[in-house]
Amino acid sequence: MEPILQTVDLNKIYKVGKVETHALRGVTMTVNKGEFVAIMGQSGCGKSTLLHLLGGLLSPTSGKILIDNEDISKVSDAKRTDIRRRKIGFVFQRFNLFPTLTADGNLRLAERIHVGNGKGSAEKRHEILSLLKLENKMNNKPLELSGGEQQRVALARAVINSPAIILADEPTGNLDTENSEIVLDMFQELNERYGQTIIMITHNPEAARHCGRVINMLDGRIVD
Ligand SMILES: Nc1ncnc2c1ncn2[C@@H]1O[C@H](COP(=O)(O)OP(=O)(O)O)[C@@H](O)[C@H]1O
Ligand SMILES: [Mg+2]
Repeated sequence: MEPILQTVDLNKIYKVGKVETHALRGVTMTVNKGEFVAIMGQSGCGKSTLLHLLGGLLSPTSGKILIDNEDISKVSDAKRTDIRRRKIGFVFQRFNLFPTLTADGNLRLAERIHVGNGKGSAEKRHEILSLLKLENKMNNKPLELSGGEQQRVALARAVINSPAIILADEPTGNLDTENSEIVLDMFQELNERYGQTIIMITHNPEAARHCGRVINMLDGRIVD
C-alpha cells in the first residue's frame, strides 16, 4: 500500500486576540492511495482544521503534511497552490455555484480553470452528472434546482477534473436521506471505479458505512 497523504505530529493553534485555541494536538496519520476514509468526532474537535491543513488551505503551527511524499508545509505558497489545483478537489457544505450559469456551465467553468484552454469533455460531464442523477438538469441554473440538487452540482464540480484526492467537509450535512444516499453512492463509485482517494468528515453513521475506515477524533487528537 502506497501512502498518498501523511501527517506527522501536526499541531494547530489559532490565536484570536489573546485567546489561543489548540485545535490539533499532535495528529499523526497516514491515508493510502485509493482509501475512502471517514473522519468523525464531536463538534469543535478539530475535524475541519485537519481537512484544511491536509489540503494546504491552512498552515500548521508545527508538524509535517506530506502529499505524495512531498512536505507541503515547506514549499512556497505558489507551489502549494499548484499542488492543490492539480491533486485535490474540495467539497464544502456551502456551495458557491455561479447563478447565471447552468449546471453544465458551472462544470465547464471548473474545467476551464483547471486546464486553462477551455477544453473539457462533454462526455465526462455527462457521466458525472448521471452518477449524481442530474442528467435531466444539465441546462438548469442554480435557482431552477432544489437545495439537494445544487449541492450535487457543487459536488460534480469538485470531482470533474478527476482529482487524485477528494476532501469533503460534511458533504451530506444539509441533505435529506435520499440526497445523502445519492452523494454517498457517487463517492463510493468514484472510489471503486477510478481509485480516487476520499477523506470525508461526517456525523452520519450511515455515511461511515460507505467508507473503508473511520478515523475518530476527540479534542484535537485521533483516538481509536
Ligand atoms: N479560524 C479560526 N480562528 C480561531 N479559532 C478557530 C478557527 N477555526 C476553528 N477554530 C476553533 O478550533 C477548534 C476546532 O474547530 P474545527 O476544526 O472547526 O472543529 P470541527 O470541524 O471538528 O467542528 C474549535 O474550538 C474552533 O472554535
Ligand atoms: Mg467542521
